[in-house]
Amino acid sequence: MTENRKAPRQKILIVDDSELNRSILADMLGGDFDVIEASNGREAVELISLYGGKLSLVLLDIVMPQMDGFEVLAKMKEKKWIQDIPVIIISSENTSQFIERAYELGATDYIQRPFDTNVVRRRSLNTIMLYGKQKELKGLIEESVYRREREQSLMINILSHIIEFRDGDSGNHITNVRKVSEMLLNTLAKYNAKYLLPQYEISLIALASALHDIGKITLDADYLNKPEKLGKKELETVRAHSLRGAEMIKKLPYASNEPLVQRAYEICRWHHERWDGSGYPDGLTGDEIPVSAQVVGLADAYDTLTNKRVYKEAVPHSKAVEMILNGECGAFNPDLLEAFKSVAGTLQTNLRLSSLEDI
Ligand SMILES: [Fe+2]
Ligand SMILES: [Fe+2]
Repeated sequence: MTENRKAPRQKILIVDDSELNRSILADMLGGDFDVIEASNGREAVELISLYGGKLSLVLLDIVMPQMDGFEVLAKMKEKKWIQDIPVIIISSENTSQFIERAYELGATDYIQRPFDTNVVRRRSLNTIMLYGKQKELKGLIEESVYRREREQSLMINILSHIIEFRDGDSGNHITNVRKVSEMLLNTLAKYNAKYLLPQYEISLIALASALHDIGKITLDADYLNKPEKLGKKELETVRAHSLRGAEMIKKLPYASNEPLVQRAYEICRWHHERWDGSGYPDGLTGDEIPVSAQVVGLADAYDTLTNKRVYKEAVPHSKAVEMILNGECGAFNPDLLEAFKSVAGTLQTNLRLSSLEDI
């Protein structure tokens, strides 16, 4: 037999300096709700801070000693509580300016004294129901957007890992390059405002970074896993992966205008370019290299250095940072190196944490 459990009663806060007014409201609403009371604005703020989202509604008087209702609303707005807790103003003031101010500060509804008890009860119930539905809907949308983003990102990571495994990698290279790129992009604008990017663009570049070496799928696995130093011809073949990856993306029969595809193209083609023009395949210099490819290039260099490959041993973190700053992996944008220096201290911890996540 299933036990029929009753849902916990919703909690509402009545704020009024008049004890009589509070008790009228409490009597009226006590049958439907758990009622708590405050006799002034300050007490109300303390209680709202204490109960937070557990409060379903605040009934608020305006003219009160110590802290008035407007100040309570302003505080709720400042602390962003007003987004989750509806407030109904109950007041005998009825000038339009007064009412307008309450709405501007985020009040949901306004009831003028003297009031009809049934109207207060109905409007309280309606407000709570509407807020509840809105919260539920917001939660559902957030959950579905979050899940879709994770799945898309997981899909890209799976495909990229398949290529990385051919390269004899542990499988963390893709996630590491992505994480380091994201950290660099979030820091770079501190050193030069021209690199300030919207968060959406940062996430896009970080996601597209997973495709940086897709051109390697066209290479013979023997080249990739050769422990000996590659000959000139072999090196040229391996280096062609950047151009091949870019060509593969360009030839995609769909979505060529999509920002993700465009960033992926830049990253594939130019992640081995260097600031002074010494990189490949096009020998671009400075900001001719898109910032997406500059950042992924540095992240790629760092992660390749710090991990063992079939042709080389792993270099410790501090040594890898030193080598990159000294230009031993080629020249990078000086602003990017500043950003790298500033995130270097937290890189290892962040990479360990991200490897514990699913993707
Ligand atoms: Fe590469
Ligand atoms: Fe790589």
